[in-house]
Amino acid sequence: MIIAANFKTNHTRESTANYLEALSLFLDAYPADCDIRAYPAASSLLKADLYPHVKLGAQNFYPALNGAYTGEIGAQHLNEFGIKTVLIGHSERRTILKETQDFIAKKYAFARSNGWEIIYCIGEPREVRESGSVMEYLWAEFEGIDINYEKLSVAYEPIWAIGTGVSAQIQEIAEVLDALKAKLKNIPLLYGGSVNTENLREILSLKSCGGALVGNAALDAANFCKLIQIAQNVRK
Ligand code: PGA
Repeated sequence: MIIAANFKTNHTRESTANYLEALSLFLDAYPADCDIRAYPAASSLLKADLYPHVKLGAQNFYPALNGAYTGEIGAQHLNEFGIKTVLIGHSERRTILKETQDFIAKKYAFARSNGWEIIYCIGEPREVRESGSVMEYLWAEFEGIDINYEKLSVAYEPIWAIGTGVSAQIQEIAEVLDALKAKLKNIPLLYGGSVNTENLREILSLKSCGGALVGNAALDAANFCKLIQIAQNVRK
């Protein structure tokens, strides 16, 4: 089971360090058999080996070791911190930062060539949900993505459920994860989109669900610890 915190553009270097200290103390006291990950902002990255119970990841990178890409960070910068897990395809990068499927596929191939763990994010906007062509839309987000990669996990995050406080209905999540599972087989499938302490247990209990990618509800370390505790108590 993967329980991942996406900090987005929140937490400074100092508050990230405080957060990870608190999380580490919790995991020392209550060891979790989940794969716990945290994705801080680029300027708040810390040495990954400082926190043995937590995998520190990058929300973003440019698909190059280094070079002339103003404002971007490359593999060299992630390597300095020992970062080996990344998010790719998050809807905020697809929509706000205008990342195309072609560019996302380049990032994916680059991450794969570096042997990084990837959480590959997909999700439909509300109008697609209403039109009923959800799976068609989601499969199009796999264009150029080699799914035969042992370090791949896929996060289904309906755009209309992200940051809204209203997650998708359990039946909607189940239908999409089951459809993904039929094709993606053993690739771990996560759900993201307004996950919180109220709905996590039911979501993780779905047979095709292998974890959660959490934004808002993971910004507070104590609340993220509660989510981890809930995950620990879900028996499959
Ligand atoms: P949210 O964000 O939990 O705040 O909806 C999830 C995400 O964007 O990964």
